[in-house]
This record gives sequence, C-alpha cells and structure tokens, in this order.
Amino acid sequence: MSWINVAPYTDIEGEETLPIEVDGQKICLYNLDGEVFATDNQCTHGDAALSDGLIQEGGLIECPLHEGTFDIRTGKAKGAPCTQDLHCHEIKVEGGVIYLRPAAR
Ligand code: FES
Repeated sequence: MSWINVAPYTDIEGEETLPIEVDGQKICLYNLDGEVFATDNQCTHGDAALSDGLIQEGGLIECPLHEGTFDIRTGKAKGAPCTQDLHCHEIKVEGGVIYLRPAAR
C-alpha cells in the first residue's frame, strides 16, 4: 500500500482527534503532543466513534459510549469493556501534510 495524502497538518493542530475517511474506511487521527497517530475510528466494543472520545493520560483514547480505552500508539485494548484491539495505520507528516498508509486487513 502506498502513502495517501489525508489532511493538512493544520486540520489537527488545535484538535485532539480528527475523523477522516480513506477508501471508505473510517479512521481517527490523534494529536498526541504534536505527533499524529491513526486507528480505525469505530470502537471494537460497539457502535461508537472514537473521534468523539477524549484522550487520557498515557496516550489512551476513551470511548464516548462505555468509557473503554485503547492505546493510541499500538491500538491495544486497555480498559474494560474493550477487549479487541484496533487496527493502527502508519502515519508520516511531510511538508505540512499528513500521509497515511492503511493497515493490511
Ligand atoms: Fe466503545 Fe462500548 S462502544 S466501549
């Protein structure tokens, strides 16, 4: 898979999360102290968008529905009721542009 231009960095600069769609896949971008990460946007526990959640200490995203948590850097399910990990997508930022390489499924 090649790199896809998904957004200008300025779109996430003042935000914690940014929902995007890449080839029909719903993805959440995260701004962790200026560094950008990406996971699937749908919580693995239910029908909730992680882009509506809040970033917690230690780089966790808290789902807005039942407050389960995932590690933003690895996609690992960290807090109940979430047990299934998220897919993570590779990110690079070059020349003020965010590029994403989708995870293999
Ligand atoms: Fe996300 Fe239940 S839907 S924790």
